[in-house]
Amino acid sequence: MKRKSPVSRSGRFAGGPAAEVAQFTESISFDWRLWRHDIQGSLAHAAMLHKIGVLTRTEKNAIARGLNQIGREISAGKFTWKPALEDVHMNIEAELTRRVPAGAKLHTARSRNDQVALDLRLWLRDEITALLGDIAGLQRALVSLGEQNAGVLIPGYTHLQRAQPVAFAHHLLAYVEMLERDCDRLWDCRARVNVCPLGSGAIAGSTLPLDREFVARQLGFLDIHRRVQLTQNSMDAVSDRDFAVEFCAAGALLAAHLSRLAEDVILWASAEFHFIRIADAYTTGSSLMPQKKNPDIAELTRGKTGRVFGNLMSLLTLLKGLPMTYNRDLQEDKERLFDTADTVRASTRLMAAMLSHTQVNRPACAAAASDPALLATDLADYLVRQGLAFRPAHHAVGAVVALAEKSDKPLNQLTLAELQSVDKHFGRDALDVFNLKTAMAQRNQTGAPGTKEVAKQLKRWRQQLS
Ligand code: ARG
Repeated sequence: MKRKSPVSRSGRFAGGPAAEVAQFTESISFDWRLWRHDIQGSLAHAAMLHKIGVLTRTEKNAIARGLNQIGREISAGKFTWKPALEDVHMNIEAELTRRVPAGAKLHTARSRNDQVALDLRLWLRDEITALLGDIAGLQRALVSLGEQNAGVLIPGYTHLQRAQPVAFAHHLLAYVEMLERDCDRLWDCRARVNVCPLGSGAIAGSTLPLDREFVARQLGFLDIHRRVQLTQNSMDAVSDRDFAVEFCAAGALLAAHLSRLAEDVILWASAEFHFIRIADAYTTGSSLMPQKKNPDIAELTRGKTGRVFGNLMSLLTLLKGLPMTYNRDLQEDKERLFDTADTVRASTRLMAAMLSHTQVNRPACAAAASDPALLATDLADYLVRQGLAFRPAHHAVGAVVALAEKSDKPLNQLTLAELQSVDKHFGRDALDVFNLKTAMAQRNQTGAPGTKEVAKQLKRWRQQLS
């Protein structure tokens, strides 16, 4: 039996592809997600075809009605996708043409090569906007948790060893800063996404008098000065996926940041740290150990980083060595791009929800932050104020720490005589450095973890994010 030829093969081919080939080459199983943007692009293209006289007003209106109707059906889950029609572009166009004869004119001066580039750019532009909103949500959750615990101090760590005291909010705001850089990168990437490739055709544009500016305007391809953004080389336009790589790279770094935050949360929720308690609804239990309450959201966020990194590598590898211009390889871009967007968006939202349902265990934080060893550096600074150079001061405090360890005393319990046995510069007021409140009041340079500066930063972020 002769297989019915799908639209893309009419004329040239005697029949449809072998079943295995169709299955191997189809993309409708994943690119159906582009339907909204495919229709958006087709509506603008049809309006332009009318403007240049290819479509009559009646035809243009019939096409628009047909496309909108199909859109409503897809949205309601009532549209049947046909794998034999390969991809989202052919499915929509074929169904349109079945309903509206003028649909057969819609592909005038257009190829799936510039169409898919357009759809991806439109889709990604919306995803970036949504992701920026998700990130702002996470930033707000971090700022809120910091504000609710404005006075809470914890040890800051280097090498995961207790280093110096910091405001808990200061630690959280470190992530707010990282996330802000992610937003900057996404905005920057968005500017290169936001360029209209339509009119490039398959590779070499069209002989028809297209109005590329008109289409681009209709679709909002404008820079911040409202200047129209058009791709400037048809060959580049149909084969360029740099914008997708950039998004996956920005997404990879965002995922790395989320993973670091996740790791801190996991540590803090452990019995060893016990700095936070995550609400039951945002944790899971163990099927065997009844006492367990696991921070799965954070663990999965950390775990999913792997696929997000992998997606970037896949895209780079996909592009490497591709001859100009469009090659079917490019169809492999979609699942990787979709996966990065889905994964970082969900991780960002879930981390925000989890942090909004997290309590700080203040006594545990206070106990950890009161470790006098955290202020050993302040004792060295004291000696500097007595006129000692920092290196010998550092050495002297090292000896004081060793002495405290040997006599099994906390650093702030040593006597003046013991301190002076190490260095004569220690005076009566030396032990004052162990007052945590004073210590935090002194750390007020821009970017420091002290009381006033952290309050200032919280306020700044609150304003910026509202
Ligand atoms: N499904 C294809 C893709 O995602 C659309 C472009 C097809 N172009 C072509 N010449 N076969 O890349």
